[in-house]
Amino acid sequence: MWSAVISLLVLQQYYDNVAAATAEPTDANYWNTYGKEQIKKAIKTERLNQNIAKNVIVFIGDGMGVTTNTAARIFKGQLAGQTGEEANLVWDEFPHVALSKTYNTDRQVADSAGTGCALFTGVKTKYEVIGVDDTIEFAKCSTAEAAAVDSVLVSAEQVGKSTGIVTTARITHATPANLYAHSASRHWEYDGKMPAQEAADGCIDIGAQFLENAAQVEVVLAGGRGYLTGNNTADPEYPDKNGLRADGRNIIEEWQQLHQDQGDQSSYVWNAADFNAVKPGETDFLLGLFESSHMQYEHQRVNDPAGEPSLTEMTEKAIHILQKNDMGFDPIFCARIDHGHHDGNAFRALTDAQELDKAVAKALELVNLEETLIIVTADHSHVMTINGYPKRGNPLFADPDFVNPALIPTKYENHGGQDTAIFATGARAHLFHGVHEDSYVAHVIRYASCMGMYMDDTCMVGNDASANFRFSFTWLYCLMLLLLLRLSYV
Ligand SMILES: *[C@@H]1O[C@H](CO)[C@@H](O)[C@H](O)[C@H]1NC(C)=O
Repeated sequence: MWSAVISLLVLQQYYDNVAAATAEPTDANYWNTYGKEQIKKAIKTERLNQNIAKNVIVFIGDGMGVTTNTAARIFKGQLAGQTGEEANLVWDEFPHVALSKTYNTDRQVADSAGTGCALFTGVKTKYEVIGVDDTIEFAKCSTAEAAAVDSVLVSAEQVGKSTGIVTTARITHATPANLYAHSASRHWEYDGKMPAQEAADGCIDIGAQFLENAAQVEVVLAGGRGYLTGNNTADPEYPDKNGLRADGRNIIEEWQQLHQDQGDQSSYVWNAADFNAVKPGETDFLLGLFESSHMQYEHQRVNDPAGEPSLTEMTEKAIHILQKNDMGFDPIFCARIDHGHHDGNAFRALTDAQELDKAVAKALELVNLEETLIIVTADHSHVMTINGYPKRGNPLFADPDFVNPALIPTKYENHGGQDTAIFATGARAHLFHGVHEDSYVAHVIRYASCMGMYMDDTCMVGNDASANFRFSFTWLYCLMLLLLLRLSYV
C-alpha cells in the first residue's frame, strides 16, 4: 500500500466533495463566557488531590501524538454533526496536562519498544529493546540479564495488588511486552525468531516469558494466539492457519493448566460470545486472546469471523474483575492508532482513537477518582500533520480507505519525534506538571501508589492528614489480602 512520510490530513480537493457542517456564530459574549468557566475550573484544581492512588489506570494511545489528538477531537465532533474543532475528547477535560519527551537513548525518533520500557519501567533505553536499560547491546543475549529492569506491573504484584493488561495488539508486541519481559530484541516474539546463538546463550522468547513472568496477572485481554501456540496447532478462528511456535508448545493450555493446578477461578476465551459470558464475580484470572495476531481495527471489528470485544468492553470487564480485589494497575492500550498511521490511513487511526475515548469515559464511570489515578498518554508521535488553510469544519477524509497523501511515499509511514501529551486526573495527577522525560510516567505511578522504590514514608508527604490514614489503611488491606491469599493456598 502507498503510504506516507508526511500525511497531509487536510486536502482542499476533498473539501469540495463532502459537505461540511456550518459553525455556530461565536461572538465576544461566547468567548468571554467560555473563559470565565475555564477560570472557575482552573481555580478548583488548586485543591490538590494528594491521596494515595490505590488504583492506577494508564491508557496508551499508541502513536497518538498531539496532532492525532487534535484530529481525533475534530473527527469526534464531526461524527456528532458539528464542525468538530470545538469538540473535546474525554481527556481534553482532565485538569492536569504535561508534555513527554519520547526519544530513545540512541535514537532521536523512538520506536515503541524503547518508549514502552521508559513509560513502564521508569528507565529510558535503546531502540527496539524490551525491559532492559541501555547497557544492553541490541540482539545480544549475553548482555540482557545484567540490563534487566522491572515494570510497574511487577511493583504492583509485589505489594499484592491485582493487575491487568488490555491491548488490541499481540500480547507479545513491543509496548505490552515491556510490562513482563526482558529482551535484547523486540523481534524475539516466539522461539522461531530467536537466533540459535542467542537461544544457546540462555535467552527465551517473549511468548515464553509471558507464561514465566505474567501468568499471575489477573486479567490479560489481547491478540496474539499464534505467538503462544505451536506450528502443529490449528487456530480456532482460522482452522487453516497454524500457530507459529517451532517448539510446539501450547502456552495457552499451559496457562490454563497452571491456574487449574492453583485451584483458581480462571477462564480462557477467544471470541466475543465466550467473553460476554465471563462473569466477573466468578472470575479471578481471565486470559482472552481474540486474534492469531493483532486484534481488528475498530472499523473492521464487526466483520470479525468469531467476534471480538471492543476496547471499551474489555476495559469494563477488566475493571470489574480487578475491583474485586485491590485493583492496583491496569494499563490499557489502544494499539492500532499506530498501525492506521503506519498505513497512511488516518481514518482507521482516528476511528480507533474514538474507541479509546469511549473506553476512558467508561473507566471514569467505574472508578472513584479520590483513590484512583487515570493517565492518558502516547508512547510516541507520528508524522501526520494538519496544514494548509482549510475552512472550519473541513472533513478529514474522503472515505474509510482513503490513504492520506505523502510528500515522500515510503512502504510504511514512520514515527514522529515530537513530544506527546500526558493527560491526568484523580489521585496525585498534579505530579504531571511540565515537560518530562517519558520515563517519569512510571515514577509517578509508583510514587502515587507508594510502590517499588517509593514504598516508604517519602510517598506520604503532603498536607492531607487523611492521606496518612489512607496509607496505613491501604497497607492494612494489602496485608490482610496477602494473609488471605496465603491462607487459601494452605
Ligand atoms: C514446526 O517447526 C519446526 C522447526 O522449524 C519444523 O521442523 C517443523 O517441520 C514444523 N512443523 C510444522 C507442522 O510445520
